[in-house]
Amino acid sequence: MKRIILAVFAVLLVAKEPIDPIPQNYPYDKDKAKIGKVLFFDPLLSRDETVACVSCHDFNYGGADPRRVSIGVYGKKGNVNSPTVYNAVFNFALFWNGRAKDLYEQLDGPLHSPVEMDMDEKTLLERLNASPYYKELFKEVYHTSTITYGMVKESIVEFEKALTTPNSKFDRYLRGEVNLTSQEYEGYLLFKKLGCITCHNGINLGGNSFQKFGSVIPYEGDFKGDRYEVTKKEIDRGVYRVPTLRNITLTAPYFHNGSVDSLEEAINKVAFHNLGYELSEVEIKKIIAFFETLTGERPRILDED
Ligand code: HEC
Ligand code: HEC
Repeated sequence: MKRIILAVFAVLLVAKEPIDPIPQNYPYDKDKAKIGKVLFFDPLLSRDETVACVSCHDFNYGGADPRRVSIGVYGKKGNVNSPTVYNAVFNFALFWNGRAKDLYEQLDGPLHSPVEMDMDEKTLLERLNASPYYKELFKEVYHTSTITYGMVKESIVEFEKALTTPNSKFDRYLRGEVNLTSQEYEGYLLFKKLGCITCHNGINLGGNSFQKFGSVIPYEGDFKGDRYEVTKKEIDRGVYRVPTLRNITLTAPYFHNGSVDSLEEAINKVAFHNLGYELSEVEIKKIIAFFETLTGERPRILDED
């Protein structure tokens, strides 16, 4: 009997998929998120009032930036491609090199960065507190007539928590609600068999470990914004937080430097540099079919008033 129980247990362990579905109702404060949404779209948050969060995290492009690198205030160029804000709440650390531990800490980045919004706390609060519109908006939720930096951050973070994309075909498959086509399923098997899954796993198929780009065959490219910039350890050159593959068909261009436009080429390069494989066109097509099942629902908050 004991043996049977053990065997059943072992089967369950093996059967557990290495990817978890996105919760269907991830909790967030609706009232605060509404303010956060207004702030996210408002260029008032940047020094020259030309750049909003949405300028570089475009919801028509999966919450990412279709440009190779982002352009901030006064037309200044950044050095890395803007990652998606969708499902960012599930990442274990934020930014390509994981230098922020959570969404709160992350927010200081774009606001203060001289090549993004170049904003300081004092000016930002002066602007918001001088606006009867914002005064009223915050007052309704926070019941105070002075807007603080903490309130601004909290409301943007609540909005970001609303930016999850549940119910992708793959999540519904994980929950046993639909079947994958044979092409999609073979792509998923390949993704596991080749070893992509060792780095791209968990709820975001990534976002939960730091890995070297070129771990098997060296990658000859720039390593801007890598983990080395945080730790100053040689071993961290070319190391990045593994990017999420959720909604990946929407978020071109790819890689930290946005150097690759097509998903085919991105897959080809990672398979070669990180696993040492040269994939056939047929294999790549299957993996892309699997990737297409990772596109989730557009966050509901974006279409609410
Ligand atoms: C000028 C373009 C630009 C603007 C404006 C901008 N961002 Fe970003 N954002 C980026 C880039 C580029 C990165 C990646 C930087 C890095 O990793 O070093 C990033 C990273 C992020 C991340 C981390 C995602 C992850 O998975 O690591 C979040 C969250 C985010 N931004 C939210 C915001 C919010 C909120 C605002 C507005 C307050 C904002 N961004 C404004 C370009 C921008
Ligand atoms: C050793 C860990 C590791 C393995 C194995 C791995 N990846 Fe990645 N993957 C990464 C890292 C790190 C990056 C970010 C590289 C960069 O931007 O410089 C990445 C980037 C990507 C990107 C681009 C994502 C974006 O938003 O720019 C895709 C697509 C991708 N991987 C797919 C795959 C596929 C398919 C496989 C298997 C054939 C695979 N990866 C295997 C670590 C890995």
